[in-house]
Amino acid sequence: MAIRTIVKLPDSILREKAQEVLKITPRTHKLLDDMMDTMHHANGIGLAAPQIGISKRVIVVNIGEESEKIELINPIVIEKSGEQLGPEGCLSIPGLSGDVRRAEQITVRGLDRKGHSIDVSGSGLMARVLQHEIDHLNGVLFIDIADAIYEPEEHEDD
Ligand code: NI
Repeated sequence: MAIRTIVKLPDSILREKAQEVLKITPRTHKLLDDMMDTMHHANGIGLAAPQIGISKRVIVVNIGEESEKIELINPIVIEKSGEQLGPEGCLSIPGLSGDVRRAEQITVRGLDRKGHSIDVSGSGLMARVLQHEIDHLNGVLFIDIADAIYEPEEHEDD
């Protein structure tokens, strides 16, 4: 396990369509482990592989509980409904936030690290993070689709 460097704008890898994972290997497992470590180290709640310079369709999400760590390989949205508008930021775009319209509820299908098909459903923040991370796999950033972009106010803990 290792902390990897987070790629930031204007790195062009963030604009590429990431490649599907055709075979899950020990390298894929290390990628997942490193992504989860890197995300936690950066106090993030989601990370996509292109954000550490790997143009593969892999995401990790953990919005809170340790038990809710999610790893998804080749994720696709199979269902979404409703709408929410809320603030978003991105570890690859430090210093900016935006209000982004997203589906309120979503179901994503992908592979787990053993190659088994799994469905992950979520609403609210979980749905938002899943949509944000899947967008990364298509080279889409929140600043592309935000209703408004702003520099967040200073936080007392910054
Ligand atoms: Ni992001």
